[in-house]
Amino acid sequence: MKDQIEQLLASAVAQLQSDGILPQSVQPRIQLDRPRDKSHGDFATNLALMMAKPAAMPPRDLAQKLIAAIPANELLEKTDIAGPGFINFTLSQQQLLDQLQAMYSSGRLNVQPDADSKTIVIDYSSPNLAKEMHVGHLRSAIIGDAVSRVAEFLGHKVIRQNHVGDWGTQFGMLLAHMEELDAGEQAYELSNLETFYKAAKKRFDDSEAFADRARELVVKLQSGDDYCLKLWHQFIDVSLAHCQEVYDRLGVKLTRADVMAESAYNDKLPGVIEHLKARDLLVEDQGAQCVFLDEFKGKEGDPLPIIVQKRGGGYLYATTDLAAIEYRQKTLGGDYLMYFVDARQSLHFEQIFTLARKAGFVEGDIDLAHFGFGTVMGKDGRPYKSRDGGVTKLADLLDEAERRALDLMQSKGSSLTEEEQQAVAKVVGISSVKYADLSKNRTSDYIFDWDLMLSFEGNTAPYLLYAYTRVNSIFEKLGTDQRYQNADWQLADERELALANQLVRFNEVLHSVYQKAMPHFLCGYLFELAGKFSSFYEACPILNNDDLAVRNSRLKLAALTANTLRQGLQLLGIPTLDKM
Ligand code: ARG
Repeated sequence: MKDQIEQLLASAVAQLQSDGILPQSVQPRIQLDRPRDKSHGDFATNLALMMAKPAAMPPRDLAQKLIAAIPANELLEKTDIAGPGFINFTLSQQQLLDQLQAMYSSGRLNVQPDADSKTIVIDYSSPNLAKEMHVGHLRSAIIGDAVSRVAEFLGHKVIRQNHVGDWGTQFGMLLAHMEELDAGEQAYELSNLETFYKAAKKRFDDSEAFADRARELVVKLQSGDDYCLKLWHQFIDVSLAHCQEVYDRLGVKLTRADVMAESAYNDKLPGVIEHLKARDLLVEDQGAQCVFLDEFKGKEGDPLPIIVQKRGGGYLYATTDLAAIEYRQKTLGGDYLMYFVDARQSLHFEQIFTLARKAGFVEGDIDLAHFGFGTVMGKDGRPYKSRDGGVTKLADLLDEAERRALDLMQSKGSSLTEEEQQAVAKVVGISSVKYADLSKNRTSDYIFDWDLMLSFEGNTAPYLLYAYTRVNSIFEKLGTDQRYQNADWQLADERELALANQLVRFNEVLHSVYQKAMPHFLCGYLFELAGKFSSFYEACPILNNDDLAVRNSRLKLAALTANTLRQGLQLLGIPTLDKM
């Protein structure tokens, strides 16, 4: 829809250009927005304001000319000028009905595949394996997963990459501690990686001999010593199993097959250094191999190095990422590489993207993008911590979510059996945590607040899940009667119209979620949809309506709402419940 209006506007621009009213030299970027207020039409553009200067004409006059140049069409009911020169477009009612019907009869809610289908490599989750996943790992996993699902739904080929950190110096310490324990102790201690890590760290800090052994083990590990590799594999295996448990509970689509660990690039790292050397990009600085790029300067304008090899020969995070970029384009065939990593790593990604292009680790027309996100904060305004002040393990956080959801259901009183309640609490608890994250602007910090996220009011998972069960209950009451399926749409009531107008925006919203990698657009949309449904449902009787034509059209609206809620939540990685 939006595309079609954009095309109409583009023809109007072309027309004015050939008439000599607009200069040929300026190609305007046509942007359509959804006005907040329905009285401003369905779409609005500021094109006339943007082009007034090059056209040397007052914006309202230019708007007038643009409107006159829009080709005849059946899309628009009216086009008018507002304020200083905005153009508002109102779609024809027939248009709305056609779209609604297309959405209703399509298996994918008439969501259009992206015209430009790509192979997208998406890096998300990517925790360090030395410790168990904690609350800081939530955002990458959840946001990356939602965007991956949307990209796939829009017809892209998505390759997930879990770039886990499994090769750092901390592993020496962990291996040294494993070595000290007998098999039984090891199995026991490894069942909680958080305490295992702490115990190893304590040994490292307390004992000189232990610290020496740890350092020796890293060197041996990295040079491929069999004994070290065996211990290390054992550790990594346990750690990855912990991650997988978290992914499965969270409904994050990652599996072992998506793990492409830092260590997997080990053999490629000497080649990365050679490559940089051959391109004359390496500079030795205090024994370390560095690249200095003009684009990156320190605060005082001093050169800022990207260190790719340490004095002792060890490689760094950046070195591995350069190897990974090359692999993602040249081996995986990616033409768009997305990274969902904490915003605090922005500089790192800017640097390696620039360097990768400059040094030819990637070639041609490839998009590289880092999508940063803010921090999960506690109510005290500092990064979220557990009650004892330590980091909160994700597994514990999810346990608590399920427990709280169950308490909530029990305190509200529920008609479900004990067993059903537990199953529902699992979904509600986990979904609340996910949704609280997804519904915030990705780039901001947000405050982790149990009461808000589990509330049945506001833009929350419980609200949406409940809204879905309400729509669903209409069809449970209806039973097997399918006659409404072929009914004509009747949109006489303003609440029916508002709901219909919201429904048909789904396609557009998904495209912007993908383009901006912003799942909160979809959350906002679903929340509004549930709100519009609720107003409709309160004002417009359905099942006990004597007018069969109206009843059937309303059933169709309800069915489309249910399908859209279910599909939208599913793209966020949230399952729906039939009752709760
Ligand atoms: N393991 C890193 C960390 O925990 C994140 C890795 C992100 N991905 C990447 N290709 N650098 O900070």
